[in-house]
Amino acid sequence: MIDESSPVTAFQRDAVSTPVSPAEFRAGMRQLAAAVTIATTLHGGARAGMTATAVMSLTAEPPQLGLAVNRSNASCPAIAGAGVFAVNVLRHDQAGLARRFAGADGVTGEERFTEGRWGRRATGSPVLLDAAAAFDCRVVQAIDLSSHVLFVGQVEDVLAVPAATPLLFMDGTWASLVRADDHDFRAYEQVIGRIDAAIDAAVAKRVPPAQQLDDFIRQFSQISARSRGIVREFFDREAVAPTQSLDAINRLKRGVEGKLMGLLADGTTSGDFDVADPAVAAHAIIGLVNSAHRWPETGDATAADALGGRIGALATGMVLRRGGRECADSA
Ligand SMILES: Cc1cc2nc3c(=O)[nH]c(=O)nc-3n(C[C@H](O)[C@H](O)[C@H](O)COP(=O)(O)O)c2cc1C
Repeated sequence: MIDESSPVTAFQRDAVSTPVSPAEFRAGMRQLAAAVTIATTLHGGARAGMTATAVMSLTAEPPQLGLAVNRSNASCPAIAGAGVFAVNVLRHDQAGLARRFAGADGVTGEERFTEGRWGRRATGSPVLLDAAAAFDCRVVQAIDLSSHVLFVGQVEDVLAVPAATPLLFMDGTWASLVRADDHDFRAYEQVIGRIDAAIDAAVAKRVPPAQQLDDFIRQFSQISARSRGIVREFFDREAVAPTQSLDAINRLKRGVEGKLMGLLADGTTSGDFDVADPAVAAHAIIGLVNSAHRWPETGDATAADALGGRIGALATGMVLRRGGRECADSA
């Protein structure tokens, strides 16, 4: 008997036919980045496990999650028979295990567990001890979904490593997360702050402009070379940086650019530099030094200092007035 007043019943009837083909559905689903897990169980004394992305959080009170398992997988009757399962959330460096538990090596059943550190918690289902997280569950419902069974598990135990980077699967390939971790952005902001202080200090010396410029670029290069790890991390994460952090960083960068343009313009007025466009010259110099994080790493502070000296001489040479010779940016 269909209850017409229930929206849930109406949805059940609508789901009977659809113009969307399985191929179209899969094409869309390829774009749904998913955390990769290994779902395991212990049935009749034998362990079973399979790679699974069809896992979802259902309710926190009571703690329940859903796991959709293909009926043709050996894990399906094993979980149904055992009435328990564990969902092990993989870390970014565990794609090998994910492949193994998806059957890629041709390894099945118990043999899959010869790789990885496995233990047991509340239900006896295999728990991966170095997973990003593990949920040990008791089956409270098994819902028939044509090719799959949706197991609803009540979570009886949780193991979690909050800072772990998870393994993802999307568009047919393994992937990992770029985290928008505020700490990294503050560290980079401090690097730009030191560069800003370096140009202030160089200009305050009241030495000839060429010396001010050389001094600043040396400092800039040394700071960049010594902070290459922080700079690299920033460029990797810039796309996910919180707007507030990016605004602060960009404000500082615009400040440095403005001060460098001022230094180049003053030097041109005094006849020390030959710069047609201080903005272009400032960006060219910054671009030159900005690549410092990609220079070969020697792990030696004195090497970073020597490199700073050479880059300083190179950049100063670009803008210095020389008898009859044109400068790089005005050529
Ligand atoms: C990235 C990825 C995600 C998968 N997710 C699921 C899933 O959520 N449910 C499922 O039934 N099979 C899933 N599979 C397929 C199973 O892992 C695979 O068929 C496995 O060999 C089944 O093992 P079993 O027959 O021992 O249970 C996935 C495979 C891969 C590579």
